Amino acid sequence: MASINSNFLKLKAGYLFPEIARRVKAFSDANPDKSAKIIRCGIGDVTEPLPAAVRAAMHEAIDEMGVRETFKGYGPEQGYEFLRQAIVDNEFAGLGIGADEVFISDGSKCDTGNILDIFGKGNVIAITDPVYPVYVDTNVMAGNTGDADEKGAYGGLVYLPCTAENGFVADLPKERVDLVYLCFPNNPTGAVATRAQLEAWVKYAKENDTIIFFDAAYQAFVQDASVPKSIFEIEGAKDVAIEFRSFSKNGGFTGVRCAYIVIPKTVTGKDDQGNRVPLHQLWSRRHSTKFNGASYPVQKGAAAVFSEQGKAEVKALIEHYMGNAKLLVEAAKSAGLQVFGGVNAPYVWVGCPAGLGSWDMFDKMLNEAQVVITPGAGFGAAGEGWFRISAFNSRANVEEVCRRLKALLG
Ligand code: MLT
Repeated sequence: MASINSNFLKLKAGYLFPEIARRVKAFSDANPDKSAKIIRCGIGDVTEPLPAAVRAAMHEAIDEMGVRETFKGYGPEQGYEFLRQAIVDNEFAGLGIGADEVFISDGSKCDTGNILDIFGKGNVIAITDPVYPVYVDTNVMAGNTGDADEKGAYGGLVYLPCTAENGFVADLPKERVDLVYLCFPNNPTGAVATRAQLEAWVKYAKENDTIIFFDAAYQAFVQDASVPKSIFEIEGAKDVAIEFRSFSKNGGFTGVRCAYIVIPKTVTGKDDQGNRVPLHQLWSRRHSTKFNGASYPVQKGAAAVFSEQGKAEVKALIEHYMGNAKLLVEAAKSAGLQVFGGVNAPYVWVGCPAGLGSWDMFDKMLNEAQVVITPGAGFGAAGEGWFRISAFNSRANVEEVCRRLKALLG
């Protein structure tokens, strides 16, 4: 009999979002009359149509595929130069990032999980709590943790609590760690780190030989000009950080799939003999062995995000979702709840009414208001007592959610 990767057995029963979907389905099946009323503000999935500039570029690319002379087979594993160069010119201008330091992929969820392939065993790994569950679960799968305790915390991980007291920006670890996951603007809390806070993280990383995994999937939602959008805006970060970016949330690509990692050639880890090896070299090898590139039409669509028309359309999408976030923030505040986020991020992080746990609040919102939210506890023990409302929705749905929140709690 084949043996399995028993680390999977350490995982909690379901990934958070399928678990939410399961509960929503059970409610719909039991209450068919209320099923049509359900508004989903749980998973952060975009709702608005793909920008016209993106669609036009993808149509054109499909047509190229229909002609022998312009047909494309396998593309470069690292991604087409036209897209990597457009990314560097538009997103990292003046930051000293080269197009050959960008790796195109089909999503940041895969990238943040797959990156562990190039790291060895025994690393001390820090994650914030609450946290995007993928960082934790992929470390469990990779055998980097012990078992979960009764609160769901895995042995071997260093948890960095994010609380109302620290504004949901983790304090530096007291001990030294090898890897740390930072996500700003944050999923799930919507918090952003100031330049000074990121400078402190980079300083810590340099002093401790730590690698920062910087997940910037929501950078396009930053409204405050003083908030860095990229870790590479911080002096010295090119020696210690790699950054994950996505077209999912700005360009509406959750169903199209395109993302990228930036790995400066100067970021290194140690081999078994203690020699420094560039991570870029390892990821390049890994990417070209296990991945054959995102599809040509998708990469053409992604590049169109940087056209003049594409930029204007993306700006309008961001304004739409941030307008939703503003309404949700106001509604939750006027319902007397404690509110964070929703200002530089499409997530609003809300304190549960006194006496309710976050899954209780999930059930209450579903059963009594037919609104799906995400319970904070699903993001980690420190998320207990909080819930997340996603601003990814139509304006009409968000207005209705605000009305229902008021009727339920106001
Ligand atoms: C979320 O709701 O947290 C996101 O949709 C997760 C993701 O982007 O994978």
